[in-house]
Amino acid sequence: MIETEEKTIASPADQRQSPGPVQRAQFEKVFAFFERLLGWFDGFMGRLIPPEYNPLEQTGRAANLTLIVCAASGVLMLLWYAPSVQLAYPAMAAIQGRTLGGWVRTVHRYSSDLIMLLLFLHATRMFIARKFTGSRWLPWTTGVLLLALTWFVGWTGFWLVWDQPAQQVAVASMQFIDVFPIFGEPMGRQFLVDRLVPSLLFFVVFFLHMLLPLGIGGGLVLHLSRLNRARIFPDRWLGIAIVVGIGVASWIIPAPLDEPAAMAVKAPAFTVDAWYLTPLALGLRFRALGLWACFGGIVLLAAFPWLLVRRNRRMTTPRDPDTRVTPWQTVVLQTRCHACTQCVQDCPFGAVSMVPRTDGKKFEARAWVNPALCVGCGVCVGSCDSEAMNLTWFDIHADEQRITDAVSRQGEAAFLALVAADIDGGFAHFQGERWRNLLPGYHVEPIPTASWVRPKFVERLLKGGTQGVLIVRDTRAEAAARDGNQWVRHRLEQTREPHFRPKRAGEGGRWHVADFNAAHPSALLSEAATFREGTLVASAPRPGRLRIFLAGILLALLLAAAAIGPSHFRVANPAPAEPEFTLSFRVLGDMVKSQELDEAEQAKLPVHMRGRSTAKPRRAPAEITLTLDGVSETRVFQPKGISHDGPTIGEWTLPLTPGSHAIHVEIKYGPESAPATWTGEIAAAPRRIQVVTYTPADGFRVE
Ligand code: HEM
Ligand code: SF4
Ligand code: SF4
Repeated sequence: MIETEEKTIASPADQRQSPGPVQRAQFEKVFAFFERLLGWFDGFMGRLIPPEYNPLEQTGRAANLTLIVCAASGVLMLLWYAPSVQLAYPAMAAIQGRTLGGWVRTVHRYSSDLIMLLLFLHATRMFIARKFTGSRWLPWTTGVLLLALTWFVGWTGFWLVWDQPAQQVAVASMQFIDVFPIFGEPMGRQFLVDRLVPSLLFFVVFFLHMLLPLGIGGGLVLHLSRLNRARIFPDRWLGIAIVVGIGVASWIIPAPLDEPAAMAVKAPAFTVDAWYLTPLALGLRFRALGLWACFGGIVLLAAFPWLLVRRNRRMTTPRDPDTRVTPWQTVVLQTRCHACTQCVQDCPFGAVSMVPRTDGKKFEARAWVNPALCVGCGVCVGSCDSEAMNLTWFDIHADEQRITDAVSRQGEAAFLALVAADIDGGFAHFQGERWRNLLPGYHVEPIPTASWVRPKFVERLLKGGTQGVLIVRDTRAEAAARDGNQWVRHRLEQTREPHFRPKRAGEGGRWHVADFNAAHPSALLSEAATFREGTLVASAPRPGRLRIFLAGILLALLLAAAAIGPSHFRVANPAPAEPEFTLSFRVLGDMVKSQELDEAEQAKLPVHMRGRSTAKPRRAPAEITLTLDGVSETRVFQPKGISHDGPTIGEWTLPLTPGSHAIHVEIKYGPESAPATWTGEIAAAPRRIQVVTYTPADGFRVE
């Protein structure tokens, strides 16, 4: 395939046999199908709202702005909030409803919900567009980590309200933490009774909630590091609409507040914000398994760039023997580069840089494409007037010649349509038949992306007798070639280098750039027809102001419902309503003496081990007998620690029937200490947990 210096990689014949650039992901056809579906949806929306007003086309940017609204309202919340187990709930209850503090709290809550909605949409769009392949592994994995981090910040936020859902969040977090042997004592034990809930831990959670958003900021820097001209915020009017929309929705529907947390109460139901607390709902049903499933899901998502991508080996090409590229990337012919830096400015992915040249020509530098960053979009090919840039799979020489020949075979007054194949989900999925039907009277040729077209190529076509060159492009804001799609028009309109030179194109020929709307293909049909007739006055009309306004309101309502609705789910507590009795204890069992060996046994050991005990010191297990209404049961609890030399910590829960019960507890520490005993009467009520705690220092306490 790679033959001469000038005619790189694929000859025209090869081109026709091969499906285009090497397929990038597994299940390409499925992805291409969804990409066309998304294209249709974007086109449908585009008929109502132009992309600059549509948050669904600027999901990443809209999420970014919403993050800022969330952070700002969070800082304002400090005016009302008190970070303490005792004071947090009363502080929240004091601003409940339509108060200024309540409004700020609701803005904080709903903006965090909207972030999640936008992030799911953003991730879905990126997934469908296969933006986890090649160099995009970095924005993809950092994106997944950002999603996880954003979720975690929200999770800690729900804890801080210290109402019933917060209680569930705290208990579920402890269940999850207790899976890891990080702490000597199970953390869940501290959440059995209100008295034991650790203030310090509450403060740590508050601190994390304040601090981790800085991590989101840092992650974003990495997330956007591979994009040139990354647009961080949405277009102005969309940005204003998002901020005002959150404010209005927050005034109309104040955020819910449940009953205060009470460890001894099993609330019948509580409000769950599905965006953040779905793992909790899963955890309630499936215990730690639900939380592990969420954790596994995040890891799986982050691994997509390795699981779903087809690997391509890098190779050198005669054009650029110093660089190893994969078959879909761009190579530079350094002898042709005159260091104008246009490609550096135009590449949407920051993949081109200027490096010292080695060919001895008078220019100091030459362009170099970093194979770790190039996504093979083809935008830089159109930037280079001197034909130094070339895609390895779509050759400017061979393919331009092939297209020119094909048009000239059409005879006098031929019309050529160059259709950006990224509209169809990639070159390999170009639907030639459909485009020929859509563009009668045109010779149709797929091209990698609209800005691949060099003005010089258009000049040559028109000079050679082509009557009209129609370039069909994908103008969606989150399209594969990002903002690079716009350069073709700018170059042809002579507002961006390299300029189109009408004098070189001769008289009589004309060009036109058409924006394709997948939901309105007939618009292209008539635009193409009027272009052929020479009666075209402007591109396809934009929707009118009233239509944009009404569609904008409808979309805002739908998004508000989608973001806020899941924030109000009521979930029934799956814990049984029957009363429970729990005994929670922490005891130090008696030390069991180490076993000494007699002389004969010592003699069998190596010299350096003689005289030592063979068994490590350990503690006796705790033997506990619980007598409920005269019926006794005994259980043995082993001490903690690898050598069983730590404290014995445990809980014993018994279901009860409502009413009064006689309870007797006996705790035996070992052979040397007298057992600890307690006898008492407890009143069991539905949805209540009656807890008795025991430590040698505090004795038995009815909580
Ligand atoms: C806090 C969370 C996130 C924010 C604020 C964010 C924001 C952004 C922004 C502003 C862009 C640039 C858009 C442009 O200039 O064209 C972008 C690009 C990108 N985002 Fe995110 N994003 C986040 C999370 C995610 C997630 C969860 C994923 C996927 C799992 C993701 C995948 C990507 C990818 C692949 C790109 C590159 C797009 C391209 O190459 O054309 N992001 N993001
Ligand atoms: S556009 Fe062409 S000539 Fe200019 S720097 Fe890039 S490769 Fe070199
Ligand atoms: S093909 Fe060109 S414009 Fe596109 S990413 Fe690679 S170097 Fe940049």
